Amino acid sequence: IKIAVFASGNGSNFQAIADAVKAGSLNTEIALVVTDRPNAYVVERAKQANIPSFAFMPSDYDSKQLYEEMLKEKLASLQVEWIVLAGFMRLIGPVLLGAYENRIVNIHPSVLPAFPGKDAIGQTMAAGAEAAGVTVHYVDAGMDTGSIIAQESFKVNGRSREAVEKEIHAIEHRLYPATLQRLFTQ
Ligand code: GRF
Repeated sequence: IKIAVFASGNGSNFQAIADAVKAGSLNTEIALVVTDRPNAYVVERAKQANIPSFAFMPSDYDSKQLYEEMLKEKLASLQVEWIVLAGFMRLIGPVLLGAYENRIVNIHPSVLPAFPGKDAIGQTMAAGAEAAGVTVHYVDAGMDTGSIIAQESFKVNGRSREAVEKEIHAIEHRLYPATLQRLFTQ
């Protein structure tokens, strides 16, 4: 299975996926890293991992439809079969959803359907929620609304935001590669 990883930021989840591929626990090929932020650290990580990356500026396009048509061509030329979102901060539109039906996944740092959208960890802490966690889900047109593939949660138990965040990222970096492996081999 050939995949593209879409990321807008640090790229620690991209790193976890690339490490799992290298270690042989995830049988896939990361054909491309796509970012909408040319300065994102994920670009440096891709370079270090010898994986091609492609940065584009959404503002260079008149619409989401136009940049998604461009991305669709690019992914098709590399025979990409799945899109893996890892901290990609944009909603996916009808062009890519149509081209990759049921083959786009995302990871989100909350126990969905609780706390969708931005700063889910901040939302979890501000709400004084009993549990925090991570969800891997299929992507649909909504914000973190697609059907759930895997989920893991833990009790906050008065821990600091920093501690909760650390635990969430540790879960993400284990859960995402393992869930992708399961999806690609079933
Ligand atoms: C992760 O917490 C992920 O769940 C969310 O965005 C964050 C991305 O982190 N969608 P990173 O860029 O992979 O380090």
